Amino acid sequence: MTTHVRWLGHAAMAIETAGVHVLVDPFLTGNPKAAITADKVHADFILISHGHGDHVGDSIAIAQRTGATIISNYEISVWLENQGIKKTHGQQHGGGFNHPFGRVKLTLAFHGSALPDGSNGGNPCGFLIYLKDGKKIYHAADTGLFGDMRLIGEEGIDLAVLPIGDNYTMGPDDAVRAVKFIQPKKVIPIHYDTFPIIAQDANAWAAKVRAETSATPVVLQPGQGIDV
Ligand code: NI
Ligand code: MN
Repeated sequence: MTTHVRWLGHAAMAIETAGVHVLVDPFLTGNPKAAITADKVHADFILISHGHGDHVGDSIAIAQRTGATIISNYEISVWLENQGIKKTHGQQHGGGFNHPFGRVKLTLAFHGSALPDGSNGGNPCGFLIYLKDGKKIYHAADTGLFGDMRLIGEEGIDLAVLPIGDNYTMGPDDAVRAVKFIQPKKVIPIHYDTFPIIAQDANAWAAKVRAETSATPVVLQPGQGIDV
């Protein structure tokens, strides 16, 4: 049973594990790097890290079309219910829940979380995903560097997904420090090159990760993926 993780551009990832499709932060419409359109993507579950438009993205339309359950923080889940989404699951930081594809725990993230209409989106989060095949994925979403990434690393992370774009999130140097804290087997950079303000040289970053850590960096083009 393999798990395949595909980058859809920006922070959007498609995880396929044991036949279940899990989407993270599906910002596709309006994303110049999107690898797929919102009317085509598969989803059984959608994870939303925070309220910003480049993360909530097409979640509502995809959930309406597919019947997917949306997992997010409690405040965003209530907001989604008010938009007519019936299948939501609210959690909060440090809390885990055993979903059909595996356990999801919300982690700390230093960022904002206002929703597109200005509603309170609670606190932003990252996701620690314990898949049923035993693999562990940490999707940091939008965050600055924080020392408690060491605690996340203690879980034994197979794949870390980290922002490197700078300005709104960690930049490349802090993302290398994050890799040292987390010590994942593999690391995928995200949240860069979508817009000029977050343009980065991902290959230069990967060279630094290779030189300074024992993690294997995997630089993807939108649409490409890897087996975890
Ligand atoms: Ni954001
Ligand atoms: Mn963002």
